[in-house]
Amino acid sequence: MKQPVRVAVTGAAGNISYAMLFRIASGEMLGKDQPVILQLLEIAPALDALKGVVMELEDCAFPLLAGIVQTDDATVAFKDVDYALLVGSRPRGPGMERKDLLEANAAIFSAQGKALNDVASRDVKALVVGNPANTNAVIAQRNAPDLDPRNFTAMTRLDHNRAMAQLAGKTDSTVNDVKKMIIWGNHSSTQYPDLTACTVNGKPALDLVDRTWYEGTYIPEVQQRGAAIIKARGASSAASAANAAIAHVRTWVMGTDENDWVSMGVYSNGEYGIAKGLIYSFPVTCANGDWSIVDGVDVSSEFSKEKMAATEQELSEERDAVAHLLP
Ligand code: NAI
Repeated sequence: MKQPVRVAVTGAAGNISYAMLFRIASGEMLGKDQPVILQLLEIAPALDALKGVVMELEDCAFPLLAGIVQTDDATVAFKDVDYALLVGSRPRGPGMERKDLLEANAAIFSAQGKALNDVASRDVKALVVGNPANTNAVIAQRNAPDLDPRNFTAMTRLDHNRAMAQLAGKTDSTVNDVKKMIIWGNHSSTQYPDLTACTVNGKPALDLVDRTWYEGTYIPEVQQRGAAIIKARGASSAASAANAAIAHVRTWVMGTDENDWVSMGVYSNGEYGIAKGLIYSFPVTCANGDWSIVDGVDVSSEFSKEKMAATEQELSEERDAVAHLLP
């Protein structure tokens, strides 16, 4: 049996975590031969609820679950962690402006970035799920100067999966037939689900669907899927978000399939002209535990240029709104 790895999860008593922790403990994220120690972070008022979740984890008697830490101290939760899933964040309260929300989260993710910097493994793989995910990831990354910026990623895998499922439905195929999907930019309604490179059963997706459907129905439906779920379910997507977080980390560790890629919010070094330092969703391949942005995707159309710039603009504005709080 391998040595256990340490996996921190924040917001561990929340909805997404409830749909995620049991799957991590059963080996779905890191493999059925990889024991895990779960290091769970919550705010003090939620520690009782967390205790209940931990009791249930114990009651599953997972063979791979090698230990559980419960704490409201980030330096305890992140001690020596190999993986950090940053799920907990401040939701928008009544009367709260977008700027207040950004600032409240900047405080949380600054503290968590510093704690990761101080106590996590130098190779920690951090995934930010809590919204605004991309900007929270920038804040954590900027507060962790001793860690490689490439260790910080933001989740757009749920958007990627939503885009695959919608396209498969429209083309009467399955998600297995859909390759080379791309979500560019922010995990928000400005994201750009791009079918330019996408294929279904080896055929260009844009030859199979109407341009009007693509621009007028498909893109807005993928962008607004989260809101549609809240409307239908009366609660936000938790199981599908948990599933995407597991898939994101799993792909990062185990690699992408040959001739395919995934979408991940990753640190921009200026690729595709996107401002350096933003955490922007790109098509990436993963191998040997590392990610690389796919080179040479055709983004030359006016449509693509406009959409990629609009979501970049939003990310720049989010970062500028908290710039005074960044080191
Ligand atoms: P939730 O409200 O059920 O749970 C959040 C948990 O985080 C709560 O238990 C809360 O006590 C905890 N928390 C708050 N501040 C914390 C802190 N400083 N440290 C540790 N824990 C803290 O929310 P849910 O449904 O689990 O969603 C979590 C986040 O994920 C939200 O921000 C949501 O918007 C985001 N999300 C992101 C998606 C993506 O695709 N990137 C998709 C769906 C949700």
